[in-house]
Amino acid sequence: MAESNVFYRSLETKYPVIEKGTGVYVWDNQGRKYLDGASGCVVTNIGYGVESVAEALYQEARQTGFSHGSVFTSKPQEELARLITEDAPGGMDYVYFVSGGTEANETAFSIALQYHRQNNNPSKWKIIGRRLSYHGSSFATLSAAGNIQRRRMYSPLVMPFPLVPAPHCYRCYCNATYPECGVSCAYELENTILSEGPENVAAFILEPIIGTSAAASVPPKEYFSIVREICNRYDVLMITDEVICGYGRSGRYLALDHFDASADLVTLGKGLGGGYTPLAAVLMTDKVYDTFNRNARKFIHGYTYQGNPVSCAAGVAVNRYLKDHNLFQRVESKGRYLKEKLHQIAEKNAIVGDVRGLGLLLGLELVKDKASKESFPAAKNIAEKAREIAMNDLDHGLMLYTGVGRTADVTPRDYLLIAPPFTINEEEMDLLVQLLSLTLDKVGEKIN
Ligand SMILES: Cc1ncc(COP(=O)(O)O)c(C=O)c1O
Repeated sequence: MAESNVFYRSLETKYPVIEKGTGVYVWDNQGRKYLDGASGCVVTNIGYGVESVAEALYQEARQTGFSHGSVFTSKPQEELARLITEDAPGGMDYVYFVSGGTEANETAFSIALQYHRQNNNPSKWKIIGRRLSYHGSSFATLSAAGNIQRRRMYSPLVMPFPLVPAPHCYRCYCNATYPECGVSCAYELENTILSEGPENVAAFILEPIIGTSAAASVPPKEYFSIVREICNRYDVLMITDEVICGYGRSGRYLALDHFDASADLVTLGKGLGGGYTPLAAVLMTDKVYDTFNRNARKFIHGYTYQGNPVSCAAGVAVNRYLKDHNLFQRVESKGRYLKEKLHQIAEKNAIVGDVRGLGLLLGLELVKDKASKESFPAAKNIAEKAREIAMNDLDHGLMLYTGVGRTADVTPRDYLLIAPPFTINEEEMDLLVQLLSLTLDKVGEKIN
């Protein structure tokens, strides 16, 4: 008899059993308490145990339960669409709800292809992605991103989508220095569109602030106006994947709002349902919507759970909580406080090579040598060791989110994403920093 019938992500790991969560804290069934420094995986933006969300789920489950998108719409779906678009950039008035970030990006690709077909450009089908990126686990989203490990595993099903370099100044792809570089990486998009043939390129997908693949790497501010202009020139839709960085996480409603640029399609996920329900969305401009309205008047796509009322009701309750507690406004100053403390850790600690990010989407890169930025050998699995130490070896547990940056143009890196719930207060941030500092000291001891 198997000890468990679950097919886990890792068959080597003995996972603790989560028992409950309140605010920024989680307990396992052995009574161990953890401070969630990563909002799960950048999901639980309003913290755990929020009664109003639980109540909304309960009420909607009792009231309607399920309705199918080809038969009904629902009050929660209509309400959530209104709430989400009223804060979105002007001219972005329509939204398609799905259940997760992968589905959202996959849906954005389908919208892009149907958009071009309706505009009599049926040969446009390729999606250009960036080497430092992650957009999901489906084959189309894997094809448009640089996660080498997953691409190799499923290589026969990975499509020939081109990848361009992402701006990442700590380790510049062009070996140049900003601002002298003139953000030359951005112009690679144009070279790639031309070499693929503009008539074949449907869309360009990018994370405005790179999440797990480069631990909150923020691009130079000119980057977006350059790529926006290139997309316009070649009739390529710009899709910004804000599954991690959007919906307030970076201190603005959308991360792209920091950069004075706009996208044609924006995907949101993770924090949209706050972890209370699987929920994600694709926002689209009126220009994209109008093409559907004037032509097919149907989107050839669909999921059983798209826009389901129970998830949307949770989404409405999460949005109300964010607004009632001014959380969209408060992330920026909390992030500044936390980032300053992370810089203090970096000054003292020999293995913290870089601190980066905006708002409460912050990242550390762990290195063997700060001056040369040499990384640890992949076999040492340093980021994962840090995660395990933080979970298990301190008097008080700390949850971190790791990345290894095993993407198309880099050797493996060790990343820690620090992204606590927006509700975290100063005292809790101080505890997070104290636990993180202890963790990094212990990692240092283990290496030597
Ligand atoms: C930027 C980004 N896009 C898309 C996804 C995929 O989202 P999901 O795991 O909800 O399918 C992720 C997941 O981590 C992500 O970080």
